[in-house]
Amino acid sequence: MKKIIMMSVIAFSILGCAEPKIEQVVYEGTNKEAIIDNILTRRAIRKFTDQQVSESQLDTIMKSAIYAPSGLNKQSWEIRVVQNPSIIEEVNKRFLKYAEGREFQGSAARYREPGFNVMHHAPTFIVIASEKANAYSKLDAGLALQNILLSAHALGLGTCPLGTLVPLLNAPENADILKLLNIPEDYEVSINIALGHPAESPEAPIRYSNKVKVIR
Ligand SMILES: Cc1cc2nc3c(=O)[nH]c(=O)nc-3n(C[C@H](O)[C@H](O)[C@H](O)COP(=O)(O)O)c2cc1C
Repeated sequence: MKKIIMMSVIAFSILGCAEPKIEQVVYEGTNKEAIIDNILTRRAIRKFTDQQVSESQLDTIMKSAIYAPSGLNKQSWEIRVVQNPSIIEEVNKRFLKYAEGREFQGSAARYREPGFNVMHHAPTFIVIASEKANAYSKLDAGLALQNILLSAHALGLGTCPLGTLVPLLNAPENADILKLLNIPEDYEVSINIALGHPAESPEAPIRYSNKVKVIR
């Protein structure tokens, strides 16, 4: 059983219109219900407030990340949390340059719009890199990713996985960025994540239940 405890109105925009109300919910039910609900209510967030994620929130999220299972417990990831606005801006600039003349699916298709930001203007940008030689490392990265998404959601924060940036960050001409982030050369980027305080609460996109079959 859930109960709405807070409806917060995000700061007024420059036009004076109120931004969407973000509902936060807590559970009066069991831990089990809360865990399942956390999984079902997590959404990809593409609008963030300017408020930065705190150190203690990051500690919880990163602890959750490294408690993900991994093949042979090799923990075949290198995770970087970037809160430096100049680096984030530089990555976006490089994306805009890389995007010129290319077509994308999803939100990146709008890269020609003024003010477009591939990280959805999130104040924190996470890079998960994977050991190239480890056969399980992409799965390991996916599990760490999901732990990040779910723990952030449990803390009332918003996330969006960012596959669009993966080829860009792995391109030889951007090796300086990986070097700056101290990612070893035998690792490659598997996924990125935008993290921050959500400024929207989108509906769940359609799910295809016929993709699951039980054979008895
Ligand atoms: C591997 C992966 C890559 C993704 N890349 C992007 C991306 O580059 N940009 C974006 O806005 N959303 C991206 N998403 C978010 C998906 O579009 C989103 O998870 C999906 O539409 C389902 O919506 P939901 O997460 O709200 O349930 C990505 C998700 C995954 C799992």
